[in-house]
Amino acid sequence: MLDDKTISDLHKAFAGSPNGFLVVDQGQPSFAVLPYQTYQTLRQAQGMPKKKIKKVLVTGGAGYIGSHTVKLLLDEGFEVVVFDNLSTGRREAVGDTELVMGDLADRTALDKVFKKNKFDAVIHFAASIEVEESVADPAKYYQNNVVNGLNLLDAMAQNGVSKIVFSSSAAVYGEPDKTPIHEDSSCNPTNPYGETKLAFEKILKWYAGAYGISSVSLRYFNAAGALGEEGLGYDKSLRHTHLIPRVLDAALGKTAEIEVFGKDYKTPDGTCVRDYIHVLDLASAHIASLHKLEKDSGAHVYNVGTGKGYSVLEIIDAAVEVTGRMIPMKFADRRPGDPAKIFADSSKLQKELGWKPEHDLKSIIQSSWEWQKSS
Ligand code: UFG
Repeated sequence: MLDDKTISDLHKAFAGSPNGFLVVDQGQPSFAVLPYQTYQTLRQAQGMPKKKIKKVLVTGGAGYIGSHTVKLLLDEGFEVVVFDNLSTGRREAVGDTELVMGDLADRTALDKVFKKNKFDAVIHFAASIEVEESVADPAKYYQNNVVNGLNLLDAMAQNGVSKIVFSSSAAVYGEPDKTPIHEDSSCNPTNPYGETKLAFEKILKWYAGAYGISSVSLRYFNAAGALGEEGLGYDKSLRHTHLIPRVLDAALGKTAEIEVFGKDYKTPDGTCVRDYIHVLDLASAHIASLHKLEKDSGAHVYNVGTGKGYSVLEIIDAAVEVTGRMIPMKFADRRPGDPAKIFADSSKLQKELGWKPEHDLKSIIQSSWEWQKSS
């Protein structure tokens, strides 16, 4: 181990010669200080064994997608520590897994958790995620999703953790040029939520080259479904904003009807089309991403969707079939900012990471129904 003074001297010397330098001791070369990318290239050229990821810090692990991913990580034999401020997460969703209650704005709390544990990677879910709220209060989104995210990256870099899987969103695309949406499609977010997710993806790209932080950004499409038998699902105590829980609220009679926002979009039945993906399929994409980071450095981006689009009316029909109940509906005005049609081309994730979605729409609605009707 190097002492603090030596590290500080090396940092200073490195600032003056960013391509690296040789340290000479009594006239003999002693060791070389290299940019991380050069070191990785040499390492790979030498065929040095890759390090397996064993222990993972999961920020936002008490939340909806985070908690399902934690369950899968544990099933796969990973060690997990959850870091969550429980602002929207549920303590029950973490079960017996170690939970550190903390905020990403709190650098001391972050350093403490990194010093106490030897993490091989981070999965970063913790974020603000409501599109409408982001328009009303962009400062909250830039703070939580960008500034706090930087705090996390700095803590990782200073504590020698160089791998991260990041929860991004299809919101980075905005209104797409064409569907299905490929990762190379242009990114023009239409709200601060999407902007902050795109900003963090870009940060990750630059941090890979400069600081050797390797990353996978997963652009989620419409997450839905639950694992009710394990007590996992979206928070039922909150007012639902997403389509499937709202349709099921109408099926349960908790609301009088489901409002369909807009009926004159350029889609086959005039209602918006989305790509609904089961939360367990999203979770398995994170495991595949960890394996990718065991092998490869750099910053990688993947869509996570099924590649199939369903209209709002098709979702309501499917929910009638699954629940066997009448679901009253009425047409309402368009919701501002809703793109007509979004579905993923996820062939890159399938080809490069060997991932594939295992759950169809029926299973998504069935599992949501069981979760939502349980008390
Ligand atoms: N919808 C209704 N009635 C409702 C609720 C929704 O008709 O009561 C419609 C919406 O207008 C939209 C579709 O159902 O056309 C899906 O809406 P959701 O609110 O369930 O999901 P979004 O597609 O708006 O949002 C999702 C994610 C966001 C992400 C966005 C990216 O939840 O995090 O996709 O496109 F930003």
